[in-house]
Amino acid sequence: MKVLLSAGARPNFMKIAPIYREALKHRQVQCKIVHTGQHYDYDMSEAFFEDLEMPRPDFFLNAGSGTHAVQTAKIMVTFEELCRNEKPDLIIVVGDVNSTLACSVVAKKLLIKVAHVEAGLRSFDLAMPEEINRMVTDAISDFFFVTEESGAANLIREGKPKNHIHFVGNVMIDNLFYQVATLNGDMSEHFPTAKIKKKFKNYAFLTLHRPSNVDKRSEFTEISDALNSIAEEMPILFPVHPRTKKRMDEFNLKLSKNIFLFSPLGFKESLFIWKDAKVVMTDSGGLQEETTALGIPCVTIRENTERPITIDMGTNILAGTKKESILEAFEKALSRPRNRFKVPPKWDGKAAERIWKILLEKQI
Ligand code: UD1
Repeated sequence: MKVLLSAGARPNFMKIAPIYREALKHRQVQCKIVHTGQHYDYDMSEAFFEDLEMPRPDFFLNAGSGTHAVQTAKIMVTFEELCRNEKPDLIIVVGDVNSTLACSVVAKKLLIKVAHVEAGLRSFDLAMPEEINRMVTDAISDFFFVTEESGAANLIREGKPKNHIHFVGNVMIDNLFYQVATLNGDMSEHFPTAKIKKKFKNYAFLTLHRPSNVDKRSEFTEISDALNSIAEEMPILFPVHPRTKKRMDEFNLKLSKNIFLFSPLGFKESLFIWKDAKVVMTDSGGLQEETTALGIPCVTIRENTERPITIDMGTNILAGTKKESILEAFEKALSRPRNRFKVPPKWDGKAAERIWKILLEKQI
């Protein structure tokens, strides 16, 4: 079975790592990695391949940044040429970024089978580019690998055949458990952030990059007011995404001196910090899941989530994006007893194993 495993942006890399590792166990599978180049800075891309113990991609498409149309189109043009040359039996796409949409549409039009890992998640918010990417990819995929039961329910409601939907668990959590096991004390001491982590017993960890949170001055100011208030109570460690950095400079945003800014961190170093945080504050999809898997309180600075299981069973609290609601969620996150939370079903580190079992049984 000739497979192209496609990824383009930071959150994709964590998802393809366990799928690739598992592919190596099957001699009948030839799995090649395609990096679309949607993310390209060392911090945003190569650092992840190193941390995740991935080989260099077999193909790098060099798409780069641009408007949604430009970026998506560039990926489509080069990925089409690659598919024509490589003639894969299957492409695997993960998550919900522009690369996911671009590669799935190209493959399907060339009559190549498409498997979507992390299918069926819905925020029901079409102002979110990722929601459009999810819906388009799911409209045309052949295999739907879902991480939580809401994903299967959404797909069934959208008319997908039940036998194409496979509840396999979460490859993001496969990667997380693998990485937690490799984080050893000696090595962690060398991280540049080790000193600051040691200095503070109680700290919050923050990530923020959604266009809806950072692209408009009024929204970003409202959130930063909340963060400045929280920082009076607890220091905040904040690796800053390039999009967010640009906006902070443009809006000349003033953050408390108790908010410590870093360049984007690699996977391991980021995990090294947030796994011991009192609370994680984020608008990322992946961190909502990862904090639930490790039982760390999470405050999600968004109005909605496509990952409801993290709220129903896990440690996640949907905070909204207003100052008061964020402060309220922060206090609630600190006061809830940790033993009330559960790790969702099949988030057990074996999702990639289940995916390959199904793909091999189907004899594509
Ligand atoms: C993308 C994904 C988002 C994901 C996020 C994780 C889409 C629609 N969005 O958003 O779902 O959560 O990645 O990071 O696919 N930039 C750099 N260096 C890089 C990459 C980007 O400086 O390596 C800068 C560019 O100026 C770019 C901006 O960051 O314009 C935003 O990058 P882009 O890939 O357009 O979207 P993200 O916000 O990263």
